[in-house]
Amino acid sequence: MSGASEWSVRNLGERRVLSPLGLSKIADDEIPDYVPDGMRVLHDVELSPGEIPDTSRSFEKAGPREYLFFDPKTTRAGIVTAGGLCPGINNVIRSLVLHLVYKYGVQHVTGFRYGFAGLDPASGFAPVPLGAEDVLHVHARGGTMLGTSRGSHDPGVMVETLAKSRIDCLFAIGGDGTMRAAHAISEEAIKRGMNLAVVGIPKTIDNDIPFVDKTFGFETAVSMAKIAIDAAHTEALSALHGIGLVRLMGRSAGFIAAHAALASHDVNVCLVPEVRFDVDGPHGLLAYLKRRLETRGHAVVVVAEGCGMRLAAKDGPRDASGNLRFASADLDIGTYLKERIEHYFAENAMPISLKYIDPSYMLRGVPANAIDAVFCDELARYAAHAAMAGKTDVMVGRWHRSFTHVPLPLALSAKKRIDPHKELWLAVTETTGQPRFVA
Ligand code: F6P
Repeated sequence: MSGASEWSVRNLGERRVLSPLGLSKIADDEIPDYVPDGMRVLHDVELSPGEIPDTSRSFEKAGPREYLFFDPKTTRAGIVTAGGLCPGINNVIRSLVLHLVYKYGVQHVTGFRYGFAGLDPASGFAPVPLGAEDVLHVHARGGTMLGTSRGSHDPGVMVETLAKSRIDCLFAIGGDGTMRAAHAISEEAIKRGMNLAVVGIPKTIDNDIPFVDKTFGFETAVSMAKIAIDAAHTEALSALHGIGLVRLMGRSAGFIAAHAALASHDVNVCLVPEVRFDVDGPHGLLAYLKRRLETRGHAVVVVAEGCGMRLAAKDGPRDASGNLRFASADLDIGTYLKERIEHYFAENAMPISLKYIDPSYMLRGVPANAIDAVFCDELARYAAHAAMAGKTDVMVGRWHRSFTHVPLPLALSAKKRIDPHKELWLAVTETTGQPRFVA
């Protein structure tokens, strides 16, 4: 992936309205600075021996612009939340509304209900006005005050709804499916010559959105996962040949499982979809568990739900967005491993005590923790700056600790997965001490 164009952000047009934020252009006056458009954040900070830095692979730096495309006095903003739940959605909604209303002076913010269904009149969900008072306390609660749903809707119909509501800036909070829909809306609006700013805010506990360090909600999900692992470890330690088996969400990427394993320090085996493993044979999981019980007396195994892919002969049940449903019985890697382990040790006449924990939706049906709460607020504020400046077809992100504008086509061009060759997987294998479970 190279070339400046796919890293360039779309602008609706010339910015002529002086920002009401009253920030500074001088470096040393103790007032935060505006961010000029030309500022970039390099994608690659590591260079292979002899490699020349490729500065074309860089993001536009996010932040408040001195001149805006939209006049806040007449600007109308809309917010939609789609996809699965994630801790912190309400924090983002709250910070968006408060920032738009109190800082920019925007007078109309609308919430669309139940995901993109709320932009399709056929669904019958009326939008709701969002004022400062409506969002004041929502950050204390998990979920989304607007409701969410999965599934796609006709971009033409959705843009028609936005045009009728005279929305200038649409904020789409969601995962990859939401970013795909946001991109389609933006394309449709451009085709119609509409000045609509579409700004995505990446949300998923799976942390599998590319070109961002992390998505909001991920940190909270990891801390919830650690609670489940701690319980599994306690149970395993307290029994003769105790095995604690924990299945964690993570559809295609094992980031939650990997980070929770690292956070707990007590995991002996971590299985993720990105790394092959055999269950049977001398190098397989079962033989390893036997050796582990013989030498150490207990074992804690964490498995990411996406490993259930290996159970799908060809295909499996899918949700409204077309994703495989790993919670369905025939793709459930957790219960599969539980049965295989119990059967194996029964056959080997070795008594075990296996405790299986699946915290499932408990990872995400909670309010954001402190780290995520800060991150949600930051993302929301940067999203508001981007939209008011007339950026569109873009997602706000964080890269190497700087906030960035990621063009949606770029975000949709790749997938983020654990790289078995890189530091994260090295850390997991060093912490767990697990071998490679393949011959
Ligand atoms: O994408 C986030 C996620 O929490 C996945 O980890 C999980 O597979 C999926 O959503 C389940 O979501 P739902 O049951 O709401 O479709």
